[in-house]
Amino acid sequence: MNKRKKVVIDCDPGIDDFLALWLALRSPELDVMGITIVAGNVPVEQGVKNALKVLKITNRLDIPVYAGAQKPLKKPYISAQDTHGEDGLGESDFEDVTNGICRQNASEFLNKTLMANSDVTVIAIGPLTNIAIAMQKDIQAWKKCKALISMGGAFKSYGNCSPVAEYNYWCDPDAASYVYKHSPVLITMVGLDVTRKIVLTPNILELIQQENSEVASVIRKITRFYFDFHWKQEKVIGCVINDPLTVALLLDPEICSGFKSYVQINTDSGIGNGQSIVDEKSFYHHDANAKVLTQVDSIKFMKLFLNRIAEIDLGLLDQILPAIMGEKD
Ligand code: RIB
Ligand code: CA
Repeated sequence: MNKRKKVVIDCDPGIDDFLALWLALRSPELDVMGITIVAGNVPVEQGVKNALKVLKITNRLDIPVYAGAQKPLKKPYISAQDTHGEDGLGESDFEDVTNGICRQNASEFLNKTLMANSDVTVIAIGPLTNIAIAMQKDIQAWKKCKALISMGGAFKSYGNCSPVAEYNYWCDPDAASYVYKHSPVLITMVGLDVTRKIVLTPNILELIQQENSEVASVIRKITRFYFDFHWKQEKVIGCVINDPLTVALLLDPEICSGFKSYVQINTDSGIGNGQSIVDEKSFYHHDANAKVLTQVDSIKFMKLFLNRIAEIDLGLLDQILPAIMGEKD
């Protein structure tokens, strides 16, 4: 097997963060060096507890979890517990884990890990507060970062926190703006344009139930609340699972495509707060600071996701997924 890819995951678990961590931990190509937690879907303390829960179910409590920023750089902190439940995992109330490795100073861990290596990918699937603080402390470390993949923003898609803003960049627009202005490494922007196409549906849940009832039981527990929210909020049957696409992209870059562009994040406190503004036609003639993803092969993603998390046979997935994902021949 090729050399394992070193990765640090900065997250705000969060139902879809939980699934992203699970996918990463079930992928032998990845060496998850640590998990850093940021205030987002839930307060940091709850995020740490939830990260430990996924480490326990994957028998990876050897991986350290680092608590990070308790609130955005400037904006008052607004959680997404209306979407993810008070506990951040759909009110599933999984038992807290007491034997994990919990530390502080997420930004210090990020910088030390980047400085000590030259091939670490940072996957950021929460607000970018920890990343901004780390860059402010030691931008040299980030010159050694191999890749920065951020779930956040929206190019042509409508927002989920306002008509134009996506939660991670809306929750802390100042951090997002700082990162897009100063990152020495190109940012892969995995925005709502592609993640909205990754929907966990009742049919897919039933497929998991038939092939791996133990995994299905965990996913059902954490997504029931999320299904209800999606129906109430957007009349979607199922739930959009944004974050796992960032991990899948590292495993198979062909899953998505897009274009390089200069992206700015709106930090005025008006109606556009947190909007990711993509200068597609290079109006300002700035060098690109991001690769904005616009296309995704959702079947390819789901095949990878279900094979890794639920150990469902790839041949069976090739046979079944086009039908149940509504892309019959
Ligand atoms: O807007 C979706 C993003 O915000 C996801 O990362 C979700 O977990 C929340 O953090
Ligand atoms: Ca998240």
